[in-house]
Amino acid sequence: MNIALEINGTTEHLDVAPGVTLLDALRERLGVTGPKKGCDRGQCGACTVHIGGRTALSCLTLAATVTQPVTTVEGLSTPERLHPMQRAFAEHDALQCGFCTPGQIMSAVAAADRGLAEPDEIREFMSGNLCRCSAYPTIVAAVRDGASEEGRADATV
Ligand code: FES
Ligand code: FES
Repeated sequence: MNIALEINGTTEHLDVAPGVTLLDALRERLGVTGPKKGCDRGQCGACTVHIGGRTALSCLTLAATVTQPVTTVEGLSTPERLHPMQRAFAEHDALQCGFCTPGQIMSAVAAADRGLAEPDEIREFMSGNLCRCSAYPTIVAAVRDGASEEGRADATV
């Protein structure tokens, strides 16, 4: 199938089999490796992206069904400027191996967009993003700070 995907503001044309997931299209065909393949069955959240501004598990999404713009963690920042949520994760050291971090950040941005600020709300919203390193306390702290900073325009590296 010939499909067109808008990825981080750029339209990409691909010839894919109907069963190819968005995660594989991103990683294997387009070289967009921010979304990680953890479980490949919808259980870990490492592959989380935004589709049309909402979180989605790219391992459970067929590329051919995607009609809205896709944002991955690469699309949040520029070479000169980190997204406030990325900066908050770095400042709080909210990771160990970092494998879950791109998915955590995509869910964190969505949590902030919904105005979630209380730790229990954040934990509930992000319960689908697992961290095998158990960095959860610093992740919650980072999400709270990142959410409060999202309105600021001075998130420079
Ligand atoms: S790789 Fe998609 S949820 Fe685990
Ligand atoms: S930082 Fe290692 S899995 Fe989360």
